[in-house]
Amino acid sequence: MPRPVDFPELPPELPKLLLQWYDRHARILPWREHPTPYRVWISEIMLQQTRVETVKPYFNRFLAVLPDLRALAEAPEEQLLKLWEGLGYYSRVRNLQRAAQCILTAFNGDFPADPDRLRQLPGIGEYTAGAIASISFGLPEPAVDGNVLRVLARLTGWRGDTTRPAVKTAVATALRDIYPRDRAGDFTQSLMELGALICVPGGPPQCERCPLCRLCRCARSDAWREIPARPPRRPRAVEELTVLLLRCGDRVALRRRPATGLLAGLWEFPTLPGRLSAEEAAAALARLGGGLNVSPVRELTARHVFTHREWHMTGYCFDCPSMPAQFTWATSAALHGEFALPSAFAAFRPLLPPSPDTPESV
Ligand code: ADE
Ligand code: SF4
Repeated sequence: MPRPVDFPELPPELPKLLLQWYDRHARILPWREHPTPYRVWISEIMLQQTRVETVKPYFNRFLAVLPDLRALAEAPEEQLLKLWEGLGYYSRVRNLQRAAQCILTAFNGDFPADPDRLRQLPGIGEYTAGAIASISFGLPEPAVDGNVLRVLARLTGWRGDTTRPAVKTAVATALRDIYPRDRAGDFTQSLMELGALICVPGGPPQCERCPLCRLCRCARSDAWREIPARPPRRPRAVEELTVLLLRCGDRVALRRRPATGLLAGLWEFPTLPGRLSAEEAAAALARLGGGLNVSPVRELTARHVFTHREWHMTGYCFDCPSMPAQFTWATSAALHGEFALPSAFAAFRPLLPPSPDTPESV
């Protein structure tokens, strides 16, 4: 049995202090206007692994193209992946669609307010269920993310390991006792907001501007260096890859990744395991590409860091005389418009044929 987590009680004046501060300092964010369940849900899923500034344009575009549950439920997969391109963790958007389909069939198109029901939907866990229930439906349901954990661990001076899964449940239990009935959604967001603006990660918190300063066990001290406590991370596995950038006129070769595993089902440039030399890459291309006999014209290396893995990529650019049919040959316009290419390959985009009207990349 894992040890239960004992999280301290929270001061009852916390909601009042935080809400006063939130009323003056909350950022204006697109999903805070008209916080319908659909909008809150999409934003919270996007925000789970991605920064607010990055999410804003994605959120606006997603809502413009897929304004409601039905549009999301019926969207073609390519369109979904394109709307998500660059955000990473693509299972998130596939789960969004599956959940939209469930809500239409099992709940007649009405979002459930009850967190227990919300949690039965694909991709919705404790955190997202609490966020939707409180922000959209005004229920006193906590939503504990990393921001909230950091703020409350510092406030109470709790030095336990915050990476243990049971900690979030213990913090949610402590929060339930003090949730304000009249402004539950604002309280949820005020905790996140304080963590984003004042009690920040990765640097000293701004205690002199913090509304919780007089209650806080860590205020104006060095304790923020140790709280929230986390055990050292395992180093990421490094994977060497060789990336083939095959150009032919204004087209470039793409291939679909396998249906399971990292970046499942997304498009990629043809990729080989290991770091090949230019000669080895040319030989591999001859085998892979039905006898194409060309030498690379450029070489470019790039790295991409995933949660548990790092790719060290060596890319070789080839100007091909023909377009072997085992690849999908995308025009640069189609690469911008239709094919979702993960950010892991973004460093190689400058080697592609120029697009006639390259839009800003996000
Ligand atoms: N991070 C996660 N959810 C958020 C929200 N609703 N507002 C601001 N930052 C957030
Ligand atoms: Fe964080 Fe400082 Fe506020 Fe405490 S006083 S919650 S450490 S910003």
